[in-house]
Amino acid sequence: PTIYVITPTYPRPEQIPELTRLAQTLMNVPNIYWLVTDDTDTPNQDLIDYLTFTNIPHTYLITPMPPEYSGHKVKPKGVANRNAGMEWLRQHASKGVVYFADDDNTYDIRLFQEMRYTEKVSMWPVGLVSKEGLSTPVVSEGKFQGWFDGWIGGRTFPVDMAGFAVSVQYLLGVPNAAMPYKPGHEEDGFLRSLHISPNDIEFKAEQCTKLYVWHTQTKKSRHQPNIIFKKKYDNTNIRVLQ
Ligand code: UGA
Ligand code: MN
Repeated sequence: PTIYVITPTYPRPEQIPELTRLAQTLMNVPNIYWLVTDDTDTPNQDLIDYLTFTNIPHTYLITPMPPEYSGHKVKPKGVANRNAGMEWLRQHASKGVVYFADDDNTYDIRLFQEMRYTEKVSMWPVGLVSKEGLSTPVVSEGKFQGWFDGWIGGRTFPVDMAGFAVSVQYLLGVPNAAMPYKPGHEEDGFLRSLHISPNDIEFKAEQCTKLYVWHTQTKKSRHQPNIIFKKKYDNTNIRVLQ
């Protein structure tokens, strides 16, 4: 089965570096289709060119956050992007697996082997997330016991965005499934909209004992990489040390 990787992204100096790292992970994974969904009104030509270079089958979508949320202090990050990616799937796909891969996480290529045969919804641990540094379903002797996460927050599914994948066929069978514009509750709201129970979940990564994905975060840069090249570095103003 094809894995449809939906990656929300947004314009900032780190955008191309983040997507370079993720692309060069995905270049090592067979049978991937990458939906890069950009929270912007303006297509990023450098990004479009970079995606072409990677040779990864992909579609680039312009998916701005609705203006009623973009002024909020705590924003529903990546929600418009992921919902637009799912709309694309409803129109262009019939089977496969869908995974939401934020642009700043770190992914081991073995994660994609784990999720590829998802029948409904599969889950596994995510590292470096929340105050405990781990978010995972707890499985013992093949049986689901509960959840481990630094913030349960009254959620039915207290999991991270990077910790689950869904069968496309199953998703298409639930026409109203979508992600809510509710910061902190995006994962739970989406999983609840799928009408699943913990008994339906396929626990991967050796019964949730292996870590193949980390919620790494990138330090904000004050630099604009292309501007450094176009404006600052004109080949005359750099002192060469020898
Ligand atoms: C936290 C959670 O750990 C994620 O599972 C969840 O997806 C995210 O919040 C969320 O609120 O949706 P965090 O690292 O704080 O993750 O969030 P970011 O990585 O900054 O953003 C999540 C995704 O949305 C990224 O792929 C980012 O590129 C994108 N994003 C962020 C936008 O599309 N627009 C924005 O204005 C900000
Ligand atoms: Mn992040």
